[in-house]
Amino acid sequence: MALNLSSKKVAVLGAGKLGGMLLQAWMRGGLLSKELIRATVRHPERVRSVSEKLHIEVGTDNAKAVHGADIVFICVKPQTVQEVMEEIRPAVSGGQLFISVAASVSTGQIEAALGTKSAVVRAMPNTPCALGAGMTGLCKGQYVSAEEIALACSLFDVVGRTVVVDEKHMDAVTGLSASGPAFIYIILESLAEAGVKVGLPREVATLLAAQMTMGSAKMVLETGDHPAQLKDSVTTPAGCTTYKDDFGNWTAIETTCARPEGRFVTTEKPDRESSLRFWNDHTLLTDQLAANKLAKQADWGAAKAAADKASH
Ligand SMILES: NC(=O)c1ccc[n+]([C@@H]2O[C@H](COP(=O)([O-])OP(=O)(O)OC[C@H]3O[C@@H](n4cnc5c(N)ncnc54)[C@H](OP(=O)(O)O)[C@@H]3O)[C@@H](O)[C@H]2O)c1
Repeated sequence: MALNLSSKKVAVLGAGKLGGMLLQAWMRGGLLSKELIRATVRHPERVRSVSEKLHIEVGTDNAKAVHGADIVFICVKPQTVQEVMEEIRPAVSGGQLFISVAASVSTGQIEAALGTKSAVVRAMPNTPCALGAGMTGLCKGQYVSAEEIALACSLFDVVGRTVVVDEKHMDAVTGLSASGPAFIYIILESLAEAGVKVGLPREVATLLAAQMTMGSAKMVLETGDHPAQLKDSVTTPAGCTTYKDDFGNWTAIETTCARPEGRFVTTEKPDRESSLRFWNDHTLLTDQLAANKLAKQADWGAAKAAADKASH
């Protein structure tokens, strides 16, 4: 479905990192008309710089921005949502679609704070949306029609991929794909650092780590193969991805990378902690392990020779 929202009036409450980034991506794609967008920030001294950066009208009056808008994006921090909803309440009218990206704030909380039977969609995008490679999980509030959730999905489809889930899964989505890039950057950084440690120039090490990560993800997405199967095609017997551990045993890479331990517990009541806990409980590959592994890999030539010797 070709999406054309150029005649829609749009309010973006909280044009910070994520709000600003989404707006830029949508405007770049010609999806929204700059003239029909009104954004807000908290600090009056930020109004000018944000307006100059995004080339749109920016203010600090949330109610004014919402008045007459067709779509209202709620992009303030979770702890600010309640106060902003109370502020805009008098300006809310029928037929408006609210899309909140605030982590851990439920559609029910927003509906209650607005005090109206407004259509509220909760969306959880991530920063790669800036490059059209984002992942957004969405869920709908009780007053959202099929057309409205489809429209919300279409918006985020423009900046990546989307999936609609039950609201009870939104904390998991937040932990996995919205916070996820920060964890991947730490892994990437540590892989690149390990490359530097064994003599690669930093920019080469970073390129190797980043392109490898992107390619591996693409393999999972495009082949549909299970990651374990894809791993097996790398860890061929006595190949350089297996190595001799400190006890003299030949092991596969999986003994180096910690397997998920513990379980991610989703609480009945959405809360911020449960999405954070996702990464605490699912340690896949710590930076330390990654660095150690790659440092050992540097010695793979010797390891391979030992393997060849062992197999004769
Ligand atoms: N960053 C991510 O990767 C990510 C991913 C998914 C979801 N989210 C969600 O996106 C939301 C925004 O996060 P962010 O990272 O973009 O934070 P941010 O950069 O701090 O942006 C927050 C924006 O809200 C504005 N603001 C604060 N109080 C306000 C008020 N009363 N009225 C109007 N505007 C107000 C701030 O104004 P000033 O500029 O004046 O301070 C700022 O521009 C959060 O709810 C977060 O959970 C973020």
